[in-house]
Amino acid sequence: MSLGKKIPFGKPFIVGKELFYIAQAVMGSSIAGDGMFTRKCQQWLESSLGTPKALLTHSCTAALEMAAILADIGPGDEVIMPSFTFVSTANAFVLRGGVPVFVDIRPDTLNIDERQVEAAITLRTRAIVAVHYAGQPCAMEALKAIAKRHGVLLIEDAAQAILAQSEGQSLGAIGDLGCLSFHETKNIISGEGGALLINNPALQERADVIWQKGTNRKAFFRGEVDKYTWVDIGSSFLPSELTAAFLYAQLEQAKRINAHRKALYAKYMTLLEPLSESGCFLLPQGCGHVPENGHIFYLRCRGNDERAALIGHLKRLDISAVFHYVPLHDSPAGLRFGRAHGDLPVTRAVSETLLRLPLYSEMTMDQVRQVCQGIKSFYC
Ligand SMILES: Cc1ncc(COP(=O)(O)O)c(C=O)c1O
Repeated sequence: MSLGKKIPFGKPFIVGKELFYIAQAVMGSSIAGDGMFTRKCQQWLESSLGTPKALLTHSCTAALEMAAILADIGPGDEVIMPSFTFVSTANAFVLRGGVPVFVDIRPDTLNIDERQVEAAITLRTRAIVAVHYAGQPCAMEALKAIAKRHGVLLIEDAAQAILAQSEGQSLGAIGDLGCLSFHETKNIISGEGGALLINNPALQERADVIWQKGTNRKAFFRGEVDKYTWVDIGSSFLPSELTAAFLYAQLEQAKRINAHRKALYAKYMTLLEPLSESGCFLLPQGCGHVPENGHIFYLRCRGNDERAALIGHLKRLDISAVFHYVPLHDSPAGLRFGRAHGDLPVTRAVSETLLRLPLYSEMTMDQVRQVCQGIKSFYC
């Protein structure tokens, strides 16, 4: 029997000026990409995250694909990454002929285990991808040092990490390149959407060309060449002004959105602590226990069967809770295109036991209480 109104796992939302800005875009001279709202979003990202250059993309997937081109990945080149991630982290490099090398994650942050990265490096390694799971920072100082020592690029998959930080620096703005997502499941949304942060100045000029379908259109508009032409590979990576207009309204409210999510997250932590202390499940153990942006709240159940039973129990109470990544290393495509560095026992265990609870912008504290009560009624 349900305890109240249905609680979805997540829900898209608007914060205020989205439709007004879309109307402004429509009444302007063009709704294709690279217009006023695109520039406003890029400037917001540059000044708020502290990166020298941001390019909006139509998804984080697109940003990762641009990163793979900028990293000059070719057939047989290896890219080190966790297996506990979304398919786009690996796909972007496989599309260029690259080989994902999957390394295990840490049991506390669920991020790539930096202590295992160096042993996975070979003469073919070209890049390391740091995926900041649930907005928790990877061990960036250690990863930066490894990347530097071996002369490989450090790419951040910061799809879930908008406005989260590591030692005062914004995630996505630390490695050579950073990729963000504004998919409707993320903290800041535009339906589909993303951005590439180009933190390494040496990659900035080429990034413009790749973004503009392989042409020097940007240089042409800056008056540096007298006609624009095809100069490199590239594709259609930029979003339309309609998407950028929606996104800008969200970015203006980004700090407020994240603050609310963090408060919901903290409430979950407090209400679930007694059950966790009596051994029913593990609570997140990452840095400081409340990640900077409250993107995902998860439990780690005692086993796969217990997790399935809890999901079923919550479903009967009209509460939607879901598991997360199925490891990439032993998926059909992972076996075909990549290789695992070792057995990845933590990845396997986390994937079988992790349960994400509802967390979305319009969620109320009462709804958090309702979810926690539902969980309590399963165990007690
Ligand atoms: C870690 C990670 N990387 C990449 C992506 C892909 O993002 P997008 O849907 O914006 O392409 C996601 C999406 O959930 C993700 O979680």
